[in-house]
Amino acid sequence: MFNNNLITKFNTLETPFYYYDLNLLENTLKALVNSKYNNFYIHYAIKANNNNEIIKRIKKFDLGIDAVSGNEIIKALDLDFDPKKIVFSGVGKTQNEIQIGVRNNIYSFNCESLHEIELINIISKKLNRKSNIAIRLNPNIDSHSHKYMKTAISDSKFGIQISDLPLFIDRINQFDNVSLIGFHFHIGSQITDLDVFLKLSKIANDINLYFKENNILIKDINLGGGLGIDYGEPDKNLIPNFNKYFDIFKKELKLYKNQKIHFELGRSIVGQSGTLVSKVLYIKKSFNKKFIIIDAGMTELIRPALYNSHHHIQNLMSDSILKKYDIVGPLCESSDTFIKDFYLNKTKINDLLAIRSVGAYGEVMSSNYNLRKKASSYYSDSIFE
Ligand code: LLP
Repeated sequence: MFNNNLITKFNTLETPFYYYDLNLLENTLKALVNSKYNNFYIHYAIKANNNNEIIKRIKKFDLGIDAVSGNEIIKALDLDFDPKKIVFSGVGKTQNEIQIGVRNNIYSFNCESLHEIELINIISKKLNRKSNIAIRLNPNIDSHSHKYMKTAISDSKFGIQISDLPLFIDRINQFDNVSLIGFHFHIGSQITDLDVFLKLSKIANDINLYFKENNILIKDINLGGGLGIDYGEPDKNLIPNFNKYFDIFKKELKLYKNQKIHFELGRSIVGQSGTLVSKVLYIKKSFNKKFIIIDAGMTELIRPALYNSHHHIQNLMSDSILKKYDIVGPLCESSDTFIKDFYLNKTKINDLLAIRSVGAYGEVMSSNYNLRKKASSYYSDSIFE
């Protein structure tokens, strides 16, 4: 991914910075659209990365958008996404955000409470519209990912309990300005155990049958996102196995006439295309540890601090023997640690390190804590211009 020319160029840039491999992104998008089936519709979860250059590439592949805020809807519209391909998720949509969705005739609201549906109905009535809604269900499935990335276990704030579905349907029938077109799940993120999706399919079939038996016409089944990527050895799996993922649903889901399957993938589309490049500031020994202190920190990538997540790190300027290090950022927080006891080629001050797989939930979750300035972004197709 990094040839000598590129590393020479990196050496002229102010660090830390994000580097996006747009070729990889396009190849990932090609793999995605080639593996999906005709009745599968993909809404890119723009929360994963809302960088304009990234979004423009995604737009070329004709995906829809999964937004989780009014501003994400506005951004998608500004970048010319078709409102009819935008779904709006989130457990706490504000009145203002709902208005944005209704006014712009977005495809559908994924709803998580009766009060929310009531509010969408009121706002739609006021604006003389009828809005599509899908009910987000909590199927009580463990996604086997980090506890902060599980969204469908029994104590999760997301979705509604399946046993409440009849009550919801009754109430929705009393609302004139919303129409129930689907049901929705998003059971978690960074899911690598694909059996989890098998379980999800079985529950989706039960729900689908329930609607059919009650003569309720459901057009859409939205399965959310969640497909994981290989953080440990990114180069071995630069492009996720979308075939395997989609085939589970193709095989398992029992659909009725004209039903469509929707997905809201984020990480699996953009994750591997981003790298955080950082310079080694200092190296020091303390007790039995050897620390590499770099100029990137939790302000540029909060995932290790927040989820204890592992990102592969490479020294772009050394191929000498492996040594054991803790690689840490400069911030005044002990959690500002990228990795502990990691074997890296023997490193010296001013070496450049590549922190891999930061394309999803990297730049978007950055902050200016400690008054640090926002890191720049560079792109493979324009970095030499
Ligand atoms: N749909 C909904 C309703 C979501 O909440 C999410 C992500 C997605 C789709 C996209 O999921 P993906 O395909 O990217 O797994 N900050 C965390 C991840 C949080 C994900 C939140 N929801 C991280 O850095 O790992």
